[in-house]
Amino acid sequence: MKKILLSIFIMGFGSPFSAQKSIDQKVSDLLAKMTVEEKAGQLSQLNSDWEDLTGPILQKKDEDKVVLIQQGKLGSILNVRSVAQTRMLQEYAMKSRLRIPLLFGQDVIHGFRTTFPVNIGQAASWDLNLIEKSERIAATEAAAFGIHWTFAPMVDISRDPRWGRVMEGSGEDTYLGSLIGVARVKGFQGKGLGNIDAVMACAKHFAAYGAAVGGRDYNSVDVSLRQLHETYLPPFKAAAEAGVATFMNSFNDINGIPATADAYIQRDLLKGKWGFKGFVVSDWGSIGEMVNHGYAKDKTDASLKAILAGSDMDMESRAYIENLPQLVKEGTIDIKIIDDAVRRVLTKKFELGLFDDPFRFCNDDRQKQQTNNPEHRKFGREFGSKSIVLLKNETSILPLSKTTKTIALIGPFGKETTANHGFWAVPFKDDKDRIISQYDGIKNQLSKNSTLLYAKGSNVDDEDRSMFAEAVETARNADVVIMTLGEGPNMSGEAKSRSNIHFSGVQEELLKEISKTGKPSVLLINAGRPLVFDWAADHIPTIMYTWWLGTEAGNSIADVLFGAVNPGGKLPMTFPRTEGQIPVYYNHYNTGRPAAKSTDRNYVSAYIDLDNDPKYPFGYGLSYTNFNYSDFQLSSEHPTGNQELKISVTVTNTGNFDGEEVVQLYIRDLVGKVVRPVKELKGFQKIFLKKGERRTVTFSLNPESLKFYDDQLSYEWEEGEFDIMVGTDSENVQTKRIYWKK
Ligand code: GLC
Repeated sequence: MKKILLSIFIMGFGSPFSAQKSIDQKVSDLLAKMTVEEKAGQLSQLNSDWEDLTGPILQKKDEDKVVLIQQGKLGSILNVRSVAQTRMLQEYAMKSRLRIPLLFGQDVIHGFRTTFPVNIGQAASWDLNLIEKSERIAATEAAAFGIHWTFAPMVDISRDPRWGRVMEGSGEDTYLGSLIGVARVKGFQGKGLGNIDAVMACAKHFAAYGAAVGGRDYNSVDVSLRQLHETYLPPFKAAAEAGVATFMNSFNDINGIPATADAYIQRDLLKGKWGFKGFVVSDWGSIGEMVNHGYAKDKTDASLKAILAGSDMDMESRAYIENLPQLVKEGTIDIKIIDDAVRRVLTKKFELGLFDDPFRFCNDDRQKQQTNNPEHRKFGREFGSKSIVLLKNETSILPLSKTTKTIALIGPFGKETTANHGFWAVPFKDDKDRIISQYDGIKNQLSKNSTLLYAKGSNVDDEDRSMFAEAVETARNADVVIMTLGEGPNMSGEAKSRSNIHFSGVQEELLKEISKTGKPSVLLINAGRPLVFDWAADHIPTIMYTWWLGTEAGNSIADVLFGAVNPGGKLPMTFPRTEGQIPVYYNHYNTGRPAAKSTDRNYVSAYIDLDNDPKYPFGYGLSYTNFNYSDFQLSSEHPTGNQELKISVTVTNTGNFDGEEVVQLYIRDLVGKVVRPVKELKGFQKIFLKKGERRTVTFSLNPESLKFYDDQLSYEWEEGEFDIMVGTDSENVQTKRIYWKK
């Protein structure tokens, strides 16, 4: 009987044992049919800046792209954002000779139709689950709008808040940045490519883009190979190990080589040692920019250097379309190099299911469902409130009462809507109606017998003081004043480096005028980076850092202001006292002349005119309640070899509010074959404690956690003394010393 059944099955379905033709085989078959022009096309991506986000309106200047698509000479388009547009373009691709489907890419950086806190604000939540879930939602919404690929996560570590792109990263710490990068990749790719709600993620910008000299965007990077491996590469390696589908290289030169042409990072490391099987896309025009770098004499030379170095797809410079066919025909490039790159791109298109059905992401019903998803907004509201960092609450006027008789909201951001999107948001026509302003958020929660006054007070970045008087009068008429200041959404992000990161314009003057009224006040600071606000930090008793929180911003802020949510955010980046102190970061080396305390200045590593410590340290953030750390224990003070070291500490909520605390674990390797940081984050746990509740939190360390790159780039650990530290931020810690023997 079994034999009969088996033969019926084979007749009907083919042998259950002969695998479907593998993707690899399908790619090989396709490659064999392709011309070199078609291959160069698959390695090219062009922008389509269609303004209309609902219809397939094509602008005149894009017609040549349509011709290229129909000729099978263009493999990917970025910045299309609707089912209508992607369907129309895919239909053109289906008219080409080999009907190779197009790949649609988009910067989905912190949400799509529902936007979430800017990424540095998300990092302040220290909540990997929330971060992963936000990308899962972003991917679901983006895929429903026809997008196959997001150019995220940005995993650049940076220690320089003058650099505008700290806004889209996870701050200064490699350990935290690596974990967040992995959470984002998992969120975007979900259950794997081929699922209709999964999009390809893209680890960027490879590499060390955040180390730009002077924090000036696109500027040179010159770091030791050791520092490259120790600080900047680990988040990329973690993303590769997490299965990220693509990488994007960076604009900057690294130690004299433009990243786009850097075979060491792209071939030796990424595709070699790390075994990466996806593909690398260049950043916007960076192949052509090698001419500006003075690294290529023309775009032909640049194309050769880029493809040889492992840059698979050319975004926007047209260098590959214009040059690769000739370089192959004249024998300058071996077609095998081209075929490897094309194989990587086609493999992803197969994995996405686009060859089975090029229109599978083009579903109007799905797009409609994801256009204003209430569940996503509800999550965005929660995520926003969890990203807020309470910097000061000296007079404990927070949380405010909803029956406060009169509240005045004063400042240029109070009634802002689209500003809450931050820099990297996909603009939609209905944004102004969908985004909750701070004014609306507060108004929504105040009792009906209360009054909410508003005065703009100043603009963000000019010298206009004409609104001061009205603002002061408004403050005088209120019981509590909420000031909302900071930097505009287009003052951080790409190409938004700032030499001066104080409050811009006359905002600080406005703050001082309002402060003279003596009214109890709360300062909200809106920003995509650490700002310098010395006067406010020293004179305003209550300060919350609200970053830019996305679609539900006003509700998230109001939830914290009125106590529905007790803030638990912690800074993912050190806040400097002034620009002159930059770079200032927690995991610095001790130097030969460390300053014993922040006020030391004579013949130690310090400035004669500034205290050494930062304004606010890495990992810092307050709560409406208090957390007491006690009973800090280690399983051994002399661990040996691969023995696991257990660390425990009891945390007690001693205040009057339930709340969340991020318990942090740091180490210090006292002596190394290269100097070691005074502190390194090696673990954290975010816990929720009801008031009065206590919990013992445990961590474990093993020698893997102690490894570092030495001057020969070997990655090992050494026996010796270590400090083990636990605490509420990188400065406020308890310390125990151990000796770890090999
Ligand atoms: C930009 C950015 C990059 C982005 C790309 C596409 O220049 O550097 O992060 O993904 O171009 O918009």
